[in-house]
Amino acid sequence: MLTRQERFWRDPINTPALTSAVSPRPALGLASGKLILAGEHSVVYDRPAIALPFTRLNARARISSIDGPSRVSSAYYEGTLDDAPDILSGMVDCIRATVEAVGHPREHFMIQVDSTIPTGRGLGSSAAVAASAVRGIASYYGAVLSHEEEMSLVRIAEVHAHGTPSGIDAEAVVATGPFRFVKATPIVPLPVGRALHLVVADSGLRGNTRAAVEGVRCRFENERAATEEHLDQLAVVVDDVQDALRDGDTEFLGTSMNVAQRELSAIGVSDSALDSLIVEALRAGALGAKITGSGLGGCIVVLASDAESVAPLAEALRSAGAQETWPVVVHERSAEEIR
Ligand code: PMV
Repeated sequence: MLTRQERFWRDPINTPALTSAVSPRPALGLASGKLILAGEHSVVYDRPAIALPFTRLNARARISSIDGPSRVSSAYYEGTLDDAPDILSGMVDCIRATVEAVGHPREHFMIQVDSTIPTGRGLGSSAAVAASAVRGIASYYGAVLSHEEEMSLVRIAEVHAHGTPSGIDAEAVVATGPFRFVKATPIVPLPVGRALHLVVADSGLRGNTRAAVEGVRCRFENERAATEEHLDQLAVVVDDVQDALRDGDTEFLGTSMNVAQRELSAIGVSDSALDSLIVEALRAGALGAKITGSGLGGCIVVLASDAESVAPLAEALRSAGAQETWPVVVHERSAEEIR
């Protein structure tokens, strides 16, 4: 049985190679999901974080020419941009700002968005959908946006979704590998000394980034000194994760992920479903396990000791209640390769 997305791409009408009767040609924009390896939440408070693209899951936007007012087609809504429901207002603003930025604000098109990234799981769904739309529209009009322009357009949708996004999701969904991120500064791609084998497990429970970030903000305001200490510890973990990645030191990476989880729990963003998946992962031999993304629902990321341990770990997590698991390989890359 084909998925909705597979049916979409197998339909000859949706094949980008076919030239539309009306120019310009249809165009595709792509972006992937994302994982945060360390530093979620503390990144909002100007500490560093490390994230990477999660390419197994992705969002695609196909732009094609139509007569009449511009339309959007997605799992949530099918209709004109003008009549889109409030829930899509961030996307609509992002689309309008993009056509403005590429200099075609009055042109008409259809934007069809398809995404395999589950929403509300800390996997970057909203940023990826926005980035695919921005890239698709730019490509449709043959415009070249700078990275900064692309990020600020994605940010329009992210502000609607998250309130005060640090910008890490927008960077991660278009990145080519792990990187270090500090708010409002360029990303630093990171070398990886040895391939890593991760498992992402979905608790099946929807998280709410805005609520989780507000919860931490509340603690920050009411218990300032203690919260600052946890945020500082998370920043130390980010440096440790960066060193462990570079050295291919999986034991140290696992330990660092466990320290990150302890700190994230202390600032109130883990929950019992995530905690029990983490306990199960460690019992099944994982080197480290932590939430990824804003938490309070969503996913955990687990470090396996080697490639052979991935399948049994995933099996153990599914038996413990994970709704879905995905293996992820982070490939080795030298400092020379990323220069
Ligand atoms: O979109 P999420 O749920 O993965 O959260 C992004 C990471 C946070 O640090 C919690 C928020 C942010 O804007 O950086």
